[in-house]
Amino acid sequence: MRLLVTGGCGFIGSNFVRYALREHDDWEVINLDKLTYAGNPANLRDIEGDKRYRFVRGDIADRELVNDLFRDGLDAVVNFAAETHVDRSILDPSPFIETNVKGTQVLLEAARNHDVKRFVHISTDEVYGSVMDGRFTEESPLRPNSPYAASKAAADLLCRAYHISYGLPVVVTRSSNNYGPYQFPEKLIPLMVRNALSGLELPVYGEGLQVRDWLYVEDNCRAIGMVLMKGRPGEIYNIGGGSERKNIEVVKSICRMVAERLNRSPEDFTRLIKHIRDPRGAAHDFRYALDCSKVRELGWSPQVTFEEGLARTVEWYLSNRSWVESVITGEYLEYCRRVYAA
Ligand code: NAD
Ligand code: TYD
Repeated sequence: MRLLVTGGCGFIGSNFVRYALREHDDWEVINLDKLTYAGNPANLRDIEGDKRYRFVRGDIADRELVNDLFRDGLDAVVNFAAETHVDRSILDPSPFIETNVKGTQVLLEAARNHDVKRFVHISTDEVYGSVMDGRFTEESPLRPNSPYAASKAAADLLCRAYHISYGLPVVVTRSSNNYGPYQFPEKLIPLMVRNALSGLELPVYGEGLQVRDWLYVEDNCRAIGMVLMKGRPGEIYNIGGGSERKNIEVVKSICRMVAERLNRSPEDFTRLIKHIRDPRGAAHDFRYALDCSKVRELGWSPQVTFEEGLARTVEWYLSNRSWVESVITGEYLEYCRRVYAA
């Protein structure tokens, strides 16, 4: 299979490219990535020499470039490319519309014109908005609250329209919060691990009582692989880790694990916790929770418990300090200044 992966230099995309090439000897992967602040070719350094892999630097919203790639012949697309951070979307929604909405439409249009057999669009549980009790099914209404979530919801609706209007074999996945190796340290878990290792404050928004359902990235990659092979065109698949935790519990678990690993006392790290004014305000969703019966019917279930996944993640960040420090750029520090010093 000749597969176009977009956003393959980001967190989930790079894990997926590595997973796909490891699991399928006869797959070829073309990775189209713009290399924004979140894209890092070092995430795939170990497979750069693989003859089945090709990297193309470019924008999914660049119609000409995208059409050139499709003209070479593609069997399937997995679209990870996106602007992905809620706090950045609140600071400036524009790039989210350009990439997440317009970019997705450019890809869908190219796929329609070139007869692609499968188009997997990677979406998020955030399109449903927040839920206090119960879980969202794939039929739940879309009630996005942040510009990020709204741009992802818009893309999901375009996917639906391309399936219904043109019969394009689109499948959408909506996963819960991922964590694991190669995640950019603007997101909760890698930010807390990096700050703990550097003796910096651990900034918890408000009381830290919000709930997220954590999914180890390898489990998500397996689910995406399964949906790519076996998902029904026109369908949406929720993918959740089944590990709901309050943010403050996650931060304390990280403190405990880092302390254990460094032979230090947990208090050395928990005293770095600082409750700060919530920069998201009303756009801060309280809880996400998914009903995953549909993807389970394909034979998928998460294999990595939160405790095991978090231990692996802490270990990875400890063993890859130079990766972490290489992504701490002036742009990142300026972003942190805007979000955390407000
Ligand atoms: P990420 O921010 O780590 O990586 C995004 C990648 O997309 C980067 O490599 C970036 O360079 C690339 N990119 C951005 N704009 C582009 C453009 N216009 N053209 C080409 N490439 C572009 O993101 P991630 O966390 O790996 O998320 C991947 C996908 O999964 C996204 O669609 C996101 O909405 C979705 N998702 C993420 C999570 C999560 O917890 N991280 C949860 C659910 C869904
Ligand atoms: P995040 O990793 O940004 O994922 P998302 O908002 O897409 O779920 O944030 C996860 C939760 O952690 C969210 O409730 C916001 C909170 N949070 C903090 O308390 N402090 C932080 O520094 C960050 C980045 C997030």
